[in-house]
Amino acid sequence: MPEVTLRAYRDSDRTTLTEIMVEAFEGVSIDQAIEKEFGVLNGHDWKWRKARHFDDDVARDREGIIVAEHEGRILGFISTWLEYDTGIGHIPNISLIPECRGQGIGRKLIEAALDRFRQHGLTHSKIETMAHNPIGNHLYPGCGFREVARQVHFIAEL
Ligand SMILES: CC(C)(COP(=O)(O)OP(=O)(O)OC[C@H]1O[C@@H](n2cnc3c(N)ncnc32)[C@H](O)[C@@H]1OP(=O)(O)O)[C@@H](O)C(=O)NCCC(=O)NCCS
Repeated sequence: MPEVTLRAYRDSDRTTLTEIMVEAFEGVSIDQAIEKEFGVLNGHDWKWRKARHFDDDVARDREGIIVAEHEGRILGFISTWLEYDTGIGHIPNISLIPECRGQGIGRKLIEAALDRFRQHGLTHSKIETMAHNPIGNHLYPGCGFREVARQVHFIAEL
C-alpha cells in the first residue's frame, strides 16, 4: 500500500471527490441501472444524480467525510454519518481512484469510519453494496459486516 494519509474533508475537495465517486460507481450504480432501463430522466443523466449523493453526504455530516491522500494527491474518500438514536453509524459512500484500488486503502478507510463510530459511542455500522459488486461483497464481510438482507429496487414510468 502507498503511504496514505487520512484527513478531514475540506470544501476545496468537493469537485475532485464528486468526480472520483461518479467514476467509481460506473457499473455499480442504481442510478445507472435506471438509465439503462429508462434512458435519461428529466433531462439529467445518472452521473448528475449520483453526484448529488456527495452533496447529501456533505449536508448530512461534513465532519464524517474522511479523505485519503498520497503526497498531496487525493485518492478517494469514505462518507459517514452518525445516528445516535439507533446506535448505527452509516457509510453511504466509499470510492477510490482506479489505480489505487485493491491495495488495502478501502479497508483502511472503513476502519477509520468504524473508529469514528466507536468514538461517538455507536454500537453498529451499516453499509450497502450491489449484489453484483464483487469487491463490496468481499471487502465488507472482511471488515466485520454480516449480510442481513437483500433489497430489490423498482422503477415505474408514470
Ligand atoms: C470499493 C473500494 C472503495 C474498495 O477499496 P479498495 O482499496 O479497492 O479495497 P481493499 O484493497 O482494501 O480491499 C479490496 C478487497 O476486495 C478484494 N477484491 C478485489 N477485487 C475483487 C473481485 N473482483 N472479487 C472479489 N474480491 C475482490 C481484494 O482482494 C481485497 O480483499 P483482501 O483484503 O481480502 O485481499 C474501491 O475498490 C472502489 O472505489 N471501487 C469502485 C467503487 C465501488 O465499488 N464502491 C463501493 C460501492 S458499495
